[in-house]
Amino acid sequence: MNNILIAGGTGLIGKRLTTYLESTGNTVFILTRKPTAANHIFWNPSTNEIDTTKLESTTHLINLCGASLAGKRWSHAYKKELLDSRIQPAQFLLANIQHFPKLSHYITASGINCYPLNQAKVYTESDGFGTDFVSQLVKQWEETANLFSKHCLVSKIRISPVLDAQGGALVEIMKPIQAGFGAALGDGKQAMPWIHYEDLVGIFDFVLQHQLAGAFNAVAGTSTNKEFTAICAESISKKIWLPNLPAFMVKLLFGEMAILLLEGVKTSNETLIKAGFKFKYTELKAAISSCTKG
Ligand SMILES: NC(=O)c1ccc[n+]([C@@H]2O[C@H](COP(=O)([O-])OP(=O)(O)OC[C@H]3O[C@@H](n4cnc5c(N)ncnc54)[C@H](OP(=O)(O)O)[C@@H]3O)[C@@H](O)[C@H]2O)c1
Repeated sequence: MNNILIAGGTGLIGKRLTTYLESTGNTVFILTRKPTAANHIFWNPSTNEIDTTKLESTTHLINLCGASLAGKRWSHAYKKELLDSRIQPAQFLLANIQHFPKLSHYITASGINCYPLNQAKVYTESDGFGTDFVSQLVKQWEETANLFSKHCLVSKIRISPVLDAQGGALVEIMKPIQAGFGAALGDGKQAMPWIHYEDLVGIFDFVLQHQLAGAFNAVAGTSTNKEFTAICAESISKKIWLPNLPAFMVKLLFGEMAILLLEGVKTSNETLIKAGFKFKYTELKAAISSCTKG
């Protein structure tokens, strides 16, 4: 049995992961700035505070901390928050490494939007980082994670937009479609990588169980924005009747964050498949239906 500590485990992915890991016999504790449950442990990386009394038995540390990329418009201040909320918690955990004498594995969330913005290429984990803001953010995030390799195995899960009815990208995309005003964005041809939350949780567990180190593209499939929008609409028996929302309008509405909506990357999941991971959801229709109907 593993003693797993999840930093940032109160969010969308953390809740799903906690439920799964507990159901398979692990003990899970969560580091959070606002403890509300018996298995919550208080910390605040920005004020260097942490309750160290229950950390000693930790065998695996999963770090999911990070302010939402889609949370606000990317002002200079919010860009700093996006970076600080990922780097500070990791650095603070490392500064407290003496409290984790049994740690064997550090697994960090990372992002699939780390590759250059080139729609013609299918990227693997050995490709380099892009030069845009998000790619460079992910680069620094992973570089900080790599500092743990002096102490334990390090894995970086490059997460694609997660399909989950409880929140995240799917819920946001569904809102205008549900209201009858859904539309594809830009020319609609941009890549839309995705993963169902059950597979994402399975990947964290797989990497943990098989003691796999390195970076992993957590992507089940890649659609186009137009296809993705149409399948979302179909899953709730709605029609997309509006023309595509032009790119300049998307930029006006979302500012620099529009890059997430108008640009996408195609990535390969061969590394995970070759290691023996089996995706449950490889068809977008089935993955979305399981969220909207489930
Ligand atoms: N969901 C996706 O589709 C997706 C896709 C790609 C990558 N990811 C990455 O995966 C990770 C988890 O995603 P999620 O969807 O579960 O996010 P979420 O629901 O927003 O949860 C993020 C967690 O991070 C913690 N946090 C935020 N800012 C912090 C700070 N300054 N210091 C310490 N903790 C902080 C929060 O914990 P407390 O408030 O309890 O302290 C929160 O529980 C994130 O890093 C995200 O970027 C997610």
